[in-house]
Amino acid sequence: MNFLNQFIERDQLIKEWIYDAAKTIKTSFNVELDIQQKSNRNDLVTNMDKAIEKLFIEKIQQYFPGERILGEEGFGDDVQNLDGVVWIIDPIDGTLNFIKQQSDFAIMVAIYENGKGQMGYIYDVMQDKLYSAQKGSGAYCNQTLIPVVDDKPLKEGLVAISSALMSKEEGLARIVGRASSGVRLIGSAGIETAHVVSGRLIGYLAASLAPWDIAAGKVIAEEVGLVYTKLNGDSIDLLKKNASLVAAPLAHKEIISLLSAENKV
Ligand code: IPD
Ligand code: CA
Ligand code: CA
Repeated sequence: MNFLNQFIERDQLIKEWIYDAAKTIKTSFNVELDIQQKSNRNDLVTNMDKAIEKLFIEKIQQYFPGERILGEEGFGDDVQNLDGVVWIIDPIDGTLNFIKQQSDFAIMVAIYENGKGQMGYIYDVMQDKLYSAQKGSGAYCNQTLIPVVDDKPLKEGLVAISSALMSKEEGLARIVGRASSGVRLIGSAGIETAHVVSGRLIGYLAASLAPWDIAAGKVIAEEVGLVYTKLNGDSIDLLKKNASLVAAPLAHKEIISLLSAENKV
């Protein structure tokens, strides 16, 4: 597959699908949602998460038959390796925010080829901000090129952490909170990563992100010079859950050495 020849066509289609999906999500605000519990009472799925995933799968199968799809809600393929082209989809990232706040949720789509991120999209639906990147071409927020990150020390930036990390590892949150300008919690890995990409945050740490929480953000983050790894500095494994850290290079180093000094990773 020569992605270079297909970037523009794929980019146009993916953006169309994302904007259509967002319209469908917004219409659901006036209708009662069907909400089900997955692994625990804070791990929820709605009929909208399922409908949006199906919408993407239908389109991908129509335009790119034969390409495999890893989707959070399980309507795609049983992906056990990253050979060839694999689409990675999180139909609604921040489902709890979607249900409880009707804001701070995102649609995320990524394409990987033989394990390498080629295209990534995070759409902050209620802010109408589409973060996108194609490998080697920089990252954009809507039509505006996002500058490469300002590599400031940790003490000069705000850090977001996931709610799961906060409840499992208060000590870790405290360490990072003291060493930075402060800690923030938003509740959408996609939107938190987008804030790191745009320089509003210096880093984002999470206890246990699934491949679909990471895939799109990693492509976009790396295009602006951010470092995206496991919390102990190892490479992300996109077939498993990862304790993860995305941050500007200096802050990334500082967080990892702080956590290892305190035996937190
Ligand atoms: C969740 C959100 C949340 C993160 C969780 C994710 P979902 O995604 O991104 O911020 O802390 O680990 O699972 O379930 O709303 O798509
Ligand atoms: Ca998610
Ligand atoms: Ca989701």
